[in-house]
Amino acid sequence: MKRTLLSIIITCQLFSCCNQESRLYLDELDLSAMSAGWGEVTACRSVEGNPLTVAGQVYERGVGTHAASTMLLDLKGRAVTFHSFVGIDDESGEKASVEFFVLADGWILWHSGLMHYGDPTRQVKLDVSDVKKLGLYVSDGGDGIGWDHADWLNTQITYNKSAPVPVMPVAAEPYILTPASPEKPRINGPDVYGARHGNPFLYKVPVTGKRPLTCVAENLPDGLNIDQETGIISGSCGSKGDYAVRIRAMNALGSDEKTLLIRIGDTICLTPPMGWNSWNCWGLSVDQQKVQAAVDAMVSSGLADHGWSFINIDDGWEADSRLSSGELPANDKFPDMKALGDHAHRQGLKLGIYSSPGTHTCGGFLGSWEHEEQDTRTWADWGIDYLKYDWCSYERIARDHSLTELQKPYLNMQSALMKIPRDIVFSLCQYGMGEVWQWGATFGGNLWRTTGDIVDTWNSMAGIGFSQDKCAPFTGPGHWNDPDMLVVGKVGWGPSLHPSRLTPDEQYTHISLWCLLSAPLLIGCDLSSLDDFTQNLLTNDEVIAINQDPLGKPAVKVKETSTGQVWAKPLKDGSMAVGLFSTGDRSPAGMFDWEGEARSDTVSVTWEEMGITGARSVRDLWRQKDVGTYNRELKFPVNHHGVMLVRLIETTR
Ligand code: GAL
Repeated sequence: MKRTLLSIIITCQLFSCCNQESRLYLDELDLSAMSAGWGEVTACRSVEGNPLTVAGQVYERGVGTHAASTMLLDLKGRAVTFHSFVGIDDESGEKASVEFFVLADGWILWHSGLMHYGDPTRQVKLDVSDVKKLGLYVSDGGDGIGWDHADWLNTQITYNKSAPVPVMPVAAEPYILTPASPEKPRINGPDVYGARHGNPFLYKVPVTGKRPLTCVAENLPDGLNIDQETGIISGSCGSKGDYAVRIRAMNALGSDEKTLLIRIGDTICLTPPMGWNSWNCWGLSVDQQKVQAAVDAMVSSGLADHGWSFINIDDGWEADSRLSSGELPANDKFPDMKALGDHAHRQGLKLGIYSSPGTHTCGGFLGSWEHEEQDTRTWADWGIDYLKYDWCSYERIARDHSLTELQKPYLNMQSALMKIPRDIVFSLCQYGMGEVWQWGATFGGNLWRTTGDIVDTWNSMAGIGFSQDKCAPFTGPGHWNDPDMLVVGKVGWGPSLHPSRLTPDEQYTHISLWCLLSAPLLIGCDLSSLDDFTQNLLTNDEVIAINQDPLGKPAVKVKETSTGQVWAKPLKDGSMAVGLFSTGDRSPAGMFDWEGEARSDTVSVTWEEMGITGARSVRDLWRQKDVGTYNRELKFPVNHHGVMLVRLIETTR
């Protein structure tokens, strides 16, 4: 009897011990499984690394993230409860608004409703005992991801026996679509190039093909010469006019010919600028060595043979103080800017620089306030060809928030630039304030940023790219909408770099969309460590030709469904470039890959929707292959967040 009682007690204890619930905090899990639209997901800290704080209350435990954010947990059917507080972190701005969702196996279990900056936390307590996969999602509240710093606070899951584990997003393998350039010469680059009369002229004919290679040019205007070995056209042309220059490139395997229209007039940047900028990789850690490496890599990688020509130094190059003359001195980071300019020019490349109209740049270095003319003279002496002119610290000088005050610093810089006997591309970087696309050209802008800064997430890139419709009518030869720089390859905004967090499909979308939008193409990665995928992505001449089309008309959205968008861009030769994009199911459940399988969407568009009639032969631009003749509709399966980019060419019957 005694023994039976003892065994019952032991069995009960064992049973209750086995049934005992354990508790796991979200911040204990591997947070690399959580995505964020900006910044780094952080355990027990906000996305900017501050104590988790909502409506003044500090929380010890939790996870700081940024909309749009997802995390999928495999509960294995062993979890019992999910408990959390949620809120917008006090470090975000007043514009922040988000919505928190908890999903179970594809269904919404709970949502917070729209939350704004300053709102007290909301609490969620759920029985999750039947759930296999639990999704945590923070949406942007419907107004874009800007400022949306979101906190999961004190988030805990109780479970039996087997602890929940995060489902790691499967890293998609990069895949190469574009065939290598032929060994025979092929002349790439735009069909038209603009320069001002009397100023130094520099244009390197971009040619692919086996070296050695020779380039000759007929009908060059007086004052210009071509170096047959390098293909660099230089000199200075004193007479305005259009010159149809016949260019011929030859190597041992054959030759190629093309007419380049050189337009000597008042307008430069007749096609969107293409090049590299230091910001998205090096941030403020930029120095002369890194820029020189970019110059060299632009040439040695062959990118220059596809038309990439600007090497632009962003913030961080400046000295801490001016000379007594007011001039900008050389400094430890950039000991010899003129030598750098000469080095770039010898390779047929151009050098760009950055400044701000205020006393200081965004990075806290010297700005050009009250030194505009002096600085443009210095830059011209260094051989600068491009100026990115920011806004930072000017808001402290501006008298009010009027349009006149918004425009004033750009007017000042425009008149300073006009006094310089040099073609300097003028890039306005004030994030689209005052609808800059409406007036940027009047103030000498060759391009103007239409948005805040891009980062390497789908939400950032797609959020910017797919919202450029509004500024489309204001762009054209000489004047371009700038949705910010490219986030492909290795980026980092500082000394340490990481591969772009965009999936390969998202990177095809990024380049396709920027080309369709006639956007400036400024590579933001380390050029000296280009991988094969990135190199391939940046050297498809048929895709680049869409961007460099001389008509300069950007694509507009012709169709949008719950899972896709179609954008179409008219081209100079009467053909049309069309991007069929999978934007994915944007419902909360659509944010997750519940089954762990590769997803795709069917994207279609009819002739009627595009406003065209008649048969078109269709060319797949990434694969550089004709896919057939169509006369009513395009319909393709497109990888999740990917694109089918085609050119529709009218068939003559
Ligand atoms: C920002 C600008 C960035 C970068 C940065 C430098 O205002 O949008 O592209 O130039 O300043 O501090």
